[in-house]
Amino acid sequence: MKIQAINGFKDILPETAIRWRYIEECARDIFERFGMREIRLPILESTELFVRSIGEATDVVEKEMYTFADKGLTMRPEATASIMRAFIEHGLHVQRPVQRLYTIGPMFRHERPQKGRLRQFHQLDAEIIGAVEPQIDAELIAMGQMLLDTLKIKTSLEINSLGCPVCRPPYKQRLVSYLKQVSGQLCDDCRRRTHTNPLRVLDCKKSTCKAVVAAAPSLLEALCPECDQHFLAVRRSLEMLAIPYSINRFMVRGLDYYSRTTFEFLTNDLGAQAAVGAGGRYDGLIEELGGPKLSGIGFAMGLERIALLMEQQAEEQLPVESMDVFVATLGEKSLTACTQLTHELRRQGVKTAIDYSGRSLKAQLKQASRVQARYTLIIGDDELERQQGILRNMSTQEQDLFDLSGSHSRQAERLAAVLQESCCQGSPSTISRNP
Ligand code: HAM
Repeated sequence: MKIQAINGFKDILPETAIRWRYIEECARDIFERFGMREIRLPILESTELFVRSIGEATDVVEKEMYTFADKGLTMRPEATASIMRAFIEHGLHVQRPVQRLYTIGPMFRHERPQKGRLRQFHQLDAEIIGAVEPQIDAELIAMGQMLLDTLKIKTSLEINSLGCPVCRPPYKQRLVSYLKQVSGQLCDDCRRRTHTNPLRVLDCKKSTCKAVVAAAPSLLEALCPECDQHFLAVRRSLEMLAIPYSINRFMVRGLDYYSRTTFEFLTNDLGAQAAVGAGGRYDGLIEELGGPKLSGIGFAMGLERIALLMEQQAEEQLPVESMDVFVATLGEKSLTACTQLTHELRRQGVKTAIDYSGRSLKAQLKQASRVQARYTLIIGDDELERQQGILRNMSTQEQDLFDLSGSHSRQAERLAAVLQESCCQGSPSTISRNP
């Protein structure tokens, strides 16, 4: 039997990996401009952590977690809970009253795989812990928007407020009594959710439920004055930063820890998977997990979804994966000298390719084109004797003599200088010199 990757778990091949790296580099750059610092966390956590934070009556906890039941451990389905666990465990609030943290890595949910939905997927997750001001909500949303803009991905932004422990429970009661009246028109899932997690009925995707929900009481109209003020201030701040948004009063999110502001970056270009990124405030979560009474807000974006959208929407903007130089050898002595020179070039930061199989020059030049080498340095036994190699510019086909006198280290320095100079004259640079 042929062994293959399991359903919903994907290999990231080199052509895709370069796109992912570009996305990750942009994310790190932008997040760090906002004072975010990276945190790296384990993949396996106590099941209890996710049950208590995400909520027992959520799809994620009820049916999607990869759990080792006998050990009480779960492969993380998201990063927020793990960041809060680490925040509390290491008393990070003592170090800095406001912590800005981000993490990038794989998450696991046993969902039905389809385009943009996997069982192992990857998130860029950012959290600001310890700040209550509504400007923080807008700043975080603006950071997400800046990343998407930088990657040239078009999305729309929807926001909502889910209230707090003061205004949500009475609203929930009103919603439940409304849902009971119309239960005959709801799908089976929503009839069940009416009793387990009534807010989830508000974002059921079935058209019959949507019609019923359109007439349901609105949480936005039931917010307490503090939550109402907070939401208003978030909206004003977004307007001040010129971030376009619309309000979706039916957005409830699939995780139970949210309070007040929630938001989603949405697209129509990924079929059923509308959300590219999503997040919100979770003011009671840290305390609920046994930590100090601190609020927090964050979001996560799906790397697979961003990469798919970049392929579909954005013009090609990735750096070309190329080598700086291909070293072509001809003869026994040349092979030894070129092997040493290649190692020295790589030590000095030059991306260098070489072929050891003793193939013809024509075959080696073909290979140099395949690896997109900018230059080929041809050194046969004769060139070695004369101490003059041939440096061929692969795009113009022009050839120059290259001085092979001195140590390999000196030769590598001279070649690196030539490459550096040609970069400055407009060819794309990949050289990073290591002294
Ligand atoms: P979430 O809405 O469950 O939120 O996921 C955030 C993003 O992860 C989604 O918008 C999507 O891009 C991606 N995603 C989720 N599930 C999958 C999947 N099965 N396949 C591919 N991509 C997926 C959270 O996870 C929260 N922890 C976000 C957050 C951070 N809230 C506050 N802080």
